[in-house]
Amino acid sequence: MKVSELRIQTARLWQSLEEMAQRGATPDGGVCRLALSDADKEGRDLFCDWLRNLGLTVQIDQVGNILAIRPGSQDEAPVLIGSHLDTVSTGGRFDGAAGVLAGLEVLRTLEEKGIRTRRPLGLVSFTNEEGARYTTDMMGSQAFCGELSVEQVWAIRGLDGTLVGEELRRIGYAGDFPCGAIRPYAYLELHIEQGPQLDRAGIPIGIVEAITGLTWLEVIVRGAANHAGTTPMDNRRDAALAAARIVASLPDLASSIPDQRATCGRFSVAPGIVNVIPHEAIFTVDLRNGDPARLLEAETQFRARVQEISSRSNVLAEIRLLGHVPPQRCDPQVVSVIESVATDLAYPSRRMVSGAGHDAQILARICPTAMIFIPSRDGVSHSPAEYSTPEALEAGANVLLHTALRLAGVERA
Ligand code: GLV
Ligand code: MN
Ligand code: MN
Repeated sequence: MKVSELRIQTARLWQSLEEMAQRGATPDGGVCRLALSDADKEGRDLFCDWLRNLGLTVQIDQVGNILAIRPGSQDEAPVLIGSHLDTVSTGGRFDGAAGVLAGLEVLRTLEEKGIRTRRPLGLVSFTNEEGARYTTDMMGSQAFCGELSVEQVWAIRGLDGTLVGEELRRIGYAGDFPCGAIRPYAYLELHIEQGPQLDRAGIPIGIVEAITGLTWLEVIVRGAANHAGTTPMDNRRDAALAAARIVASLPDLASSIPDQRATCGRFSVAPGIVNVIPHEAIFTVDLRNGDPARLLEAETQFRARVQEISSRSNVLAEIRLLGHVPPQRCDPQVVSVIESVATDLAYPSRRMVSGAGHDAQILARICPTAMIFIPSRDGVSHSPAEYSTPEALEAGANVLLHTALRLAGVERA
């Protein structure tokens, strides 16, 4: 068989996705596989079994990233394929898992057909891409690339009070493979688009040229508790009201800056009693822009609004930075390789910008990187309704396979 005729097995890939989706399955058809939870451990165990069944040695690094390298004929830096297996708490079956399992399907296909690459081909599942339980997001890839130290990662405390280092040990994924030991030749990530563009246009392949930057902030507003019935409306220090005013101003902030997004994803008030004016409100804001100057402008404007609204509302506000990942351009050569592979395989494609964050934007700082997107039905993601068709996965995984082969080189067919 000619290498150009090689194709992945769609049914096998789909079956693996179905099996992975049982780990952390929720009754509404979604997945809750929060980083380092019991469900995450189950998903990791399954993935490691699959890698070992391929005869690969599995390495777990110091922050729990799972890595396997299929040797090439030459002992050179590997072409690395990756994504993540953790999900948000109301996640779907595809975000992250589609990329990891498409990578696994690439390795299975090569093994089955006895195809040897020149460069080694690696597969990685990064720890805590989502940042849903532990902030920051892209945590494992940041440690992999040396942006965060191992000690910094271990010391991150989750919303539930747990520590990353302790949870890694508890689930058996505190490995000893050194973070940063591998410097890839290139990095590829297949992912669902998580937005509506490809689905609307009926285009099967998106080629990511750039990935949005994001800034995550937590705002703690402090007022004074008092009686809800006896305290006059003009004599209150209502933390919830001030926080709500700040949140309500986000659409206006976003519309004043081109391509800006602004979202409050978490909001809590204390004491949380019907007849008590809240003394404290804590909320998060997710700011995104593909342009670094605009992202900074959004943060500056947001900070000014917080000050202005809190002083008008007679409360105090403190802002904590939870995470910042700058926008990132993908590598033009890898983008071109993906584009020509899509053309050769007769899949229409479109270049695009990712509005979601990805491990790829961290990897892009240390090696040539690009991403392959497949359509998300109705653009829905971070939801149990997330769906991509088997045909979409097939197209994406075939493009991933041949892009990896072009970058790694083929030794013998
Ligand atoms: C990752 O899923 C993100 O928040 O974009
Ligand atoms: Mn993802
Ligand atoms: Mn996600």
